[in-house]
Amino acid sequence: MSSDKTGQLFSVDLMKEEDLPEILAIEAASFVTPWTRGMFQDELRLPHAQCLVIRARQAEKTQVAAYIIFWLVADEVHLHNIAVRGEFRRKGLASGLMNLMRDIAGQAGADRQTLEVRESNTGAINLYRRCGFVVKGKRPRYYDDTREDALVMWAEVRQNGHHE
Ligand SMILES: CC(C)(COP(=O)(O)OP(=O)(O)OC[C@H]1O[C@@H](n2cnc3c(N)ncnc32)[C@H](O)[C@@H]1OP(=O)(O)O)[C@@H](O)C(=O)NCCC(=O)NCCS
Repeated sequence: MSSDKTGQLFSVDLMKEEDLPEILAIEAASFVTPWTRGMFQDELRLPHAQCLVIRARQAEKTQVAAYIIFWLVADEVHLHNIAVRGEFRRKGLASGLMNLMRDIAGQAGADRQTLEVRESNTGAINLYRRCGFVVKGKRPRYYDDTREDALVMWAEVRQNGHHE
């Protein structure tokens, strides 16, 4: 549990089916092609998918502030989705979730982390670089909607903290 200057309390929790309406609203505001409810439901059922949320609580109001979904397969962790509700961005929530992913991967014995990101998504690319990821390749026209290229980024699990 942590808090910010405005008195919001933040806590990490497992994603639940009841979170999906809020998550779908964050998706719609965050992505050109948002994931559907069915895609989230599939992830919630997969044993190797880790689905986490950060809840923000102030007074009596609790809302989903951020979420992350990643797969742990053999010695590798693959980031599938991460987003932060607009009003909670640039408060370190995504960095916190990325660090948590690395810690869970480390505890599970994984040693590599990977992800794909749109080449134009400079905010996310900055975040990943800060978390120790480096560009290892490109998948041409990876995204069906805009035909944009994906950057493939990698990081060692043991690599620690921020790289500024
Ligand atoms: C990308 C995203 C997850 C970042 O979440 P966040 O909680 O705001 O990120 P953090 O506060 O942990 O940011 C850590 C660092 O990443 C970099 N960063 C994050 N967002 C950035 C932006 N919009 N522009 C430039 N740099 C950014 C900064 O270096 C930042 O540190 P600083 O705030 O001290 O400058 C969020 O903007 C988001 O939900 N975007 C839409 C969904 C998305 O693109 N997801 C990634 C798909 S691959």
